[in-house]
Amino acid sequence: MPSFTTTLQLVAIIFWDIGLALYNLVAPKYKPGCVVPLGQPGAGGVWPAYVKPKPGDSRGSCPALNALANHGILPHDGKAITFTELSRVIETTYNFAPSFCRLVPLFAADMLGKSYTKDTFDLAELDKHNGIEHDASLTRKDSYHVPDQSEPYVPYIEELLSYASGTAEDGSELLMPDDISRFAAKRRLEAPKENPNFSLEFIHKFFGSSNASTMVTIFGGRISDLEIMLLEERIPDGWESRILKRKGLTMQAFNNTVLKVERNTKKIMAAVAAHGDQVAADSEEHGKQG
Ligand code: HEM
Repeated sequence: MPSFTTTLQLVAIIFWDIGLALYNLVAPKYKPGCVVPLGQPGAGGVWPAYVKPKPGDSRGSCPALNALANHGILPHDGKAITFTELSRVIETTYNFAPSFCRLVPLFAADMLGKSYTKDTFDLAELDKHNGIEHDASLTRKDSYHVPDQSEPYVPYIEELLSYASGTAEDGSELLMPDDISRFAAKRRLEAPKENPNFSLEFIHKFFGSSNASTMVTIFGGRISDLEIMLLEERIPDGWESRILKRKGLTMQAFNNTVLKVERNTKKIMAAVAAHGDQVAADSEEHGKQG
């Protein structure tokens, strides 16, 4: 549980977020190509060079933060990052609302027993088990099997992306919220069979659905972009956030997707419990056929 002071700040951020969501309703959206502020890395779709992590660099289980370090937007060694810097760069790079960009690093600082304003962290530190990192992830094996969570688990990512059932106007493949739910349900059903220490409290289900929902919001579900982001932890050339709202993706707006993903994951799991593995097989087949 977050400390009392952090809880008060979290509540204040929720009210701030409501204000930002209202502002977004009336403010003109960014024109495509203009989301990253001028002068910031990625403005006009030009990202700093991608350099793979070197031995000794710190990386963790978050593909989006690893990508920031791989491009040198966060320190390339992934070390001694200030929480305030993290807030700033996830806002300019991914166009999350400033409220979200404050809330998650604040929560992370509290989770590590550090000060949001004064302390620093290494990316790998964020992998404190059952802090934000949890079992049954979609891009990593459970930490019980692989304590170092920095490497993506390719078979999971390929399977997840193979569930894509949507098509964009230009004909490209799209991952949909229900596709995420199908794979998340599968992971939540299978992981406990292989992991004797398996746990997934309500808060970690919510975090799981939140992390995964960035794939269909910030990345717009574009398989071609997700392949690069999740497998190489690289920001595609010319990429920008799919969120065109002036104040970015607020928690209000994001939670609509998160709750939909979480609800459908539960529904699929309940159907499997009631009707057995056939439901899972049908649902998987449906995902593959679109
Ligand atoms: C704000 C600071 C952030 C922190 C502290 C953070 C932390 C984490 C952690 C610890 C995980 C591993 C969770 C697990 O066990 O599955 C994770 C996963 C993930 N995060 Fe982040 N993250 C942050 C921002 C972001 C942003 C801005 C995005 C997208 C633009 C993002 C996208 C993802 C994705 C796609 C996953 C993989 C989910 C999975 O494997 O199931 N994160 N993040």
